[in-house]
Amino acid sequence: MKIISNPIELKNYLKNKKETIGFIPTMGALHEGHISLIRKAREENELIVVSIFVNPTQFLKGEDLDRYPSKDEADKKICEMSEVDVLFFPHKKDIYCDDEVSLLAPKVRGYVLEGTSRPAHFDGVLTVVMKLLNIVNPTKAYFGKKDAQQLNLISLMVKQMFMSVAIIAVDTVRESDGLALSSRNVYLDADERKEALKISTSLHLAHKMISQNILSSTEIKKAMRKCLSPLEIAYVEILNRDFEPIDEVIIKNTVVLVEVKVGTTRLLDNIWL
Ligand code: PAJ
Repeated sequence: MKIISNPIELKNYLKNKKETIGFIPTMGALHEGHISLIRKAREENELIVVSIFVNPTQFLKGEDLDRYPSKDEADKKICEMSEVDVLFFPHKKDIYCDDEVSLLAPKVRGYVLEGTSRPAHFDGVLTVVMKLLNIVNPTKAYFGKKDAQQLNLISLMVKQMFMSVAIIAVDTVRESDGLALSSRNVYLDADERKEALKISTSLHLAHKMISQNILSSTEIKKAMRKCLSPLEIAYVEILNRDFEPIDEVIIKNTVVLVEVKVGTTRLLDNIWL
């Protein structure tokens, strides 16, 4: 596995490659969720590039940038074992300069759901993903459905900026008890970990109601809120796959999303129906 930190060096290395390139951008502290993205990319491409970069511009003041879990050596081992060909490991100065051209998230879709409590978060996500995609120039790039709004906005950016990469959505990987894997789960103590299970339980409940033909968004959201109590709920939302609110669940075109705070940790989860 080649490890490169300089973007120009990586661009030059990949420039004359004839192989299809699968790219997985990450912020490190790799877990089975990230590995499933790499695995899917491996199945569909000849050359695999993973990036690890804790992107400062997507963290707001007071968020966990300084304590974001970092496991560089373990991450390198995981990439090697997952047959990654190139690991891109840039420093902040390799990616950003002082006087930046800026990219802004769309005014509506970037400022609802997670964007409500984290204004400008998606400006940072889109900016870094645009930079990374331009450096790697992959055939396909892989993102988790777990971060559904991020995935939606990146797909929108690629479409609206006429970029040629294919964005591939990958299913959420969970612990055996249902908790969605996240690099931030390490912040949870034993009690919080137990409380966090209410998230997947509430999504399971939504799934059950829908399978019993209860399709009213209001009714489902009410039951989910009850199930999540007393956690601090940022939002419980039912949207179509274009991320527009819907009054009734449309089978094969619905995403049910939850964000809660458990202790000081924000956790996201969703199901796609
Ligand atoms: P990070 O949180 O490291 O996640 C990297 C990718 O892994 C994202 O596409 C995310 O949706 C996916 N992922 C995380 N947990 C997952 C799970 N349990 N199952 C499946 N996929 C999962 O998301 C980011 O980094 C950053 O915002 C990034 C896109 C790299 C831009 O900085």
